[in-house]
Amino acid sequence: MDDPLKQSFLKEIDNIVSFQDLINLKAKYVGKKGLLTEKIKNLGRLSSEERKIQGKALNELKNFIEEKIKNKEIELKQKEISESLKKEIIDITLPGKDYYFGGCHPVNKTLYEIIDIFREIGFTVEEGPEVELDYYNFEALNIPKNHPARDMQDTFYVSEDIVLRTHTSPVQVRVMEKKKPPLRFISPGKVYRCDSDITHTPMFHQVEGLMVDENIAFSHLKGVLVFFLQRLFGENIPVRFRPSFFPFTEPSTEIDIGCIICGAKGCRVCKGTGWLEVLGAGMVHPNVFKFAGYPEGKFTGFAFGMGVERLTMLKYGIDDIRLFFENDIRFLRQF
Ligand code: DAH
Repeated sequence: MDDPLKQSFLKEIDNIVSFQDLINLKAKYVGKKGLLTEKIKNLGRLSSEERKIQGKALNELKNFIEEKIKNKEIELKQKEISESLKKEIIDITLPGKDYYFGGCHPVNKTLYEIIDIFREIGFTVEEGPEVELDYYNFEALNIPKNHPARDMQDTFYVSEDIVLRTHTSPVQVRVMEKKKPPLRFISPGKVYRCDSDITHTPMFHQVEGLMVDENIAFSHLKGVLVFFLQRLFGENIPVRFRPSFFPFTEPSTEIDIGCIICGAKGCRVCKGTGWLEVLGAGMVHPNVFKFAGYPEGKFTGFAFGMGVERLTMLKYGIDDIRLFFENDIRFLRQF
């Protein structure tokens, strides 16, 4: 038995930590010119008796060495895998990368709130075109050509007879042409006026409202609109009705709420009055019913209109309407 060779092999293999060292070790003992290989080659010089004994012993040693090397290789591979797993470990306790959800634009938020409040008391939603006939935008609303009331609105004309609607009121007539009372609807949408400063943009949003039936009175108008304002601004909001003028309503009123910016003490926003105008309204003018084709004297009703940007500005204390349209994500994220 070639014990010293076995002993030195065992000593060396114990210290092996890399594949390259293992390859070298393999070559050193059982490679073409390995220590053991040489011994096997030299067997031929021995007597046949000796050759038998030595040959068997050397063969056993060769098998032993090859087995050891194979096992070492498996051991090194496993060590390599577990080390790389350790290195690639993911710490799932670390906070994740932040990302933002898209949100509802503040103007839409107010709009949805308005629609929800009116839905509660049975109002449906109707829509009309933004590119509108002069007839619906003005004439059918009791504003004939050359009427001074046309100067109240800075109209974008598309042609002689076609305008970008300056308010949502034309939807009143369009719906009345198609539907008979009882009517109870609101009509939200975009409107256009040639005007631009910190409280005006060329495009903004209005919500129109109309309720028509037999025996609708001014008290209905008051009840519905006070309910609406208390829902939107809180039950304790002061509300007042001022006489006003609109060509399509008679009598007409403008509705104020106590200034929510200063608590009705008087500030820059309410111009020191303690009041903020939030709605235009009135009893539908008989001429409007006539244009809609309703029989004379049969129905009464009230109409109202409001600006959504303005209500949103008051609700959130925003002092420049242009912020709504600049799409600055830092502004929009606040809502
Ligand atoms: N259309 C008006 C405007 O744009 C608002 C308005 C006032 C609508 C009175 C109405 C109303 O329905 O009755 O200024």
